[in-house]
Amino acid sequence: MKISVIGAGYVGLTTAACLAEIGHSVRCADNDEGKLNLLRSGRMPFFETHLETIVQRNHAARTLQFEEVENAVKGAEAILICVGTPPLDNGDADLSAVANVARIVAKHATGHCLVIEKSTVPVKTGQQLKRQLQLYAGNRLQCDLASNPEFLREGTAIHDFFHPDRIVIGVDTEWAAAQLREMYRPILEQSFHCPVHPQCQHTPKPALIVTDTESSELIKHASNSFLAMKISFINMVADLCEATGANITKVAQGMGMDPRIGPAFLNPGIGFGGFCFPKDVQAFVRIASQAGCDFSLLKEVENINKRRIDRFVEKIRQELWVIAGRKLAVLGLAFKPNTDDVRFAPAIELIRALVRESAIVRAYDPQATEKAKAVLPNLDYCSSPYEASADTDAILLTTEWDEFRALDWERIRGLVARPLIIDGRNMFTPEEITAHGFHYISIGRQPAFSSDDEVFSRSKLGAALP
Ligand code: UDX
Repeated sequence: MKISVIGAGYVGLTTAACLAEIGHSVRCADNDEGKLNLLRSGRMPFFETHLETIVQRNHAARTLQFEEVENAVKGAEAILICVGTPPLDNGDADLSAVANVARIVAKHATGHCLVIEKSTVPVKTGQQLKRQLQLYAGNRLQCDLASNPEFLREGTAIHDFFHPDRIVIGVDTEWAAAQLREMYRPILEQSFHCPVHPQCQHTPKPALIVTDTESSELIKHASNSFLAMKISFINMVADLCEATGANITKVAQGMGMDPRIGPAFLNPGIGFGGFCFPKDVQAFVRIASQAGCDFSLLKEVENINKRRIDRFVEKIRQELWVIAGRKLAVLGLAFKPNTDDVRFAPAIELIRALVRESAIVRAYDPQATEKAKAVLPNLDYCSSPYEASADTDAILLTTEWDEFRALDWERIRGLVARPLIIDGRNMFTPEEITAHGFHYISIGRQPAFSSDDEVFSRSKLGAALP
C-alpha cells in the first residue's frame, strides 16, 4: 500500500519504518525540515533500539522516504496522523497539530484515502477530524476516517510493532476496516521475517479488535490510565510495607499470581514518567470531567505519583541527616531503561529537588546525557558510573539500566566516601548489595546492612540492651 505517516517523532518514525519493513511504500513527513534532512542523511533524531538499522535499510531501498507534509499526502491510500498532542496548561491535549494536518490533507490529498488517527487523542476527536476534512475538502476528496491507537513502549517499540497483543481499529465503514486489515496483514498473520528476533516467528497472532471510532479512542486513554493506576497502587502498598515491616517484592509476587491482577506493572519505585502516562492520565481526567464524569480515582493516581519524589528525598534525608553539601551520584536520567527520553523523567525531578536543597549532584546515564543537558544544563555529567561514584556520600539508583546490574561493586566500594546505596527502582536484592559492604535502602523493603556496617553493629547492640 502507499502509506503516508505525518509526524516523525517516536510513534511516527517507528511506525513508518516498520510499515516499510513489512512491504509497504511509505512516505514519512514532518514540518521540521532539519529533522527531515537528518533522517535523509541516515541519522536518528532520538535513540530507539533497532530503529536506525530499519530506517537506513528501507531508506536505501526507497521503501521509506522523507518528505514535506504537502507532498507526502498526495496519492496516499492511507494517511496516518502521528503528530504530537502535548498537554496544555489546563491538562487538555493540544490538538492544534492534528487540526493542522487535517487542513493539509483536505487541501493536498488525492483520490480515495483513509485518514487514520494514531496520535493519542480525546474521545470524539475523530468526529471533529471528519468534519474538518469535509469542511475544507468539500466534494474534492473521498476520504474515510479511522482510529488506530498505538501501544508501543519506548525502548521496545520495534518489537512491540511486530508482536502486538492486539490491534485496535475504530471504523465506520467496511472499506476503512478492509484497508486497515490489509495494512496490518503481515502482522495479523505473523507472515513476515521479524527483523529483531528471527526466532519470534511462532509468537501468537495478535487479536484484532474492530469497533467504532469513539470506543477505539477510549481504549487508548483507558489502557494507559489503568496501567498508571496499577503503578500508583503498588507504590502505596510499598509505603505500607515500609511502615509495617512487610516486603513489597513478596506482596507484589503474591498479588501478581492472580491472573485477574497479573504480575506486570507492579514494580514500585520513584514513580511513572515519560511522555505518555503523566499526560494521558491528566487528559483522561479532563475528558471525563467534560463528559460530566468525575474520575477522582485518577486524580489520586496523579497525586500519589507526584509525591514519590518527596518521599524519596525524605529517604535520602533520613540516611544523610543533612542534604546540603552532600555529594550524591545519580545513576539513571532516562524515564526508563533503553531510551534516551528524559521527558517527565522522575530522575530529573529528583535532581531538581536535590539541587534546591544544595546537594552536590553528579549524574550518569548510558544514553540520556545529551537530552538531559537540554533541561539541566549546569549539572555535573560523568562518563561512567565509577566516575560519578567517586567520593560520594550516597549512590542513588533512578533508572534500571542493565548496565547497572553488572557494575563492579567492589571497585565502587573503594571509590565512595560512604558505602550507601538508595535504590529507587528495587534493582537488586538486599543480599546482592550488602555482600559488597554497602548499606542498602530500597522501596517497600526494610533497610539492609552489611555485616561490617557500623550502624548495623550499633543497632544490633541497641536491640540487645534491655
Ligand atoms: C506507555 C505504554 O506502556 C504504551 O503502551 C503507550 O503506547 C505509551 O505509553 P512508555 O511511556 O514507553 O509506554 O513506558 P512504559 O514502559 O509503559 O513505562 C512508563 C513508566 O512507568 C516508566 O517511567 C516506568 O519506569 C514506570 N513503571 C512501569 C513503574 O514505575 N513500575 C512498573 O511496574 C512499570
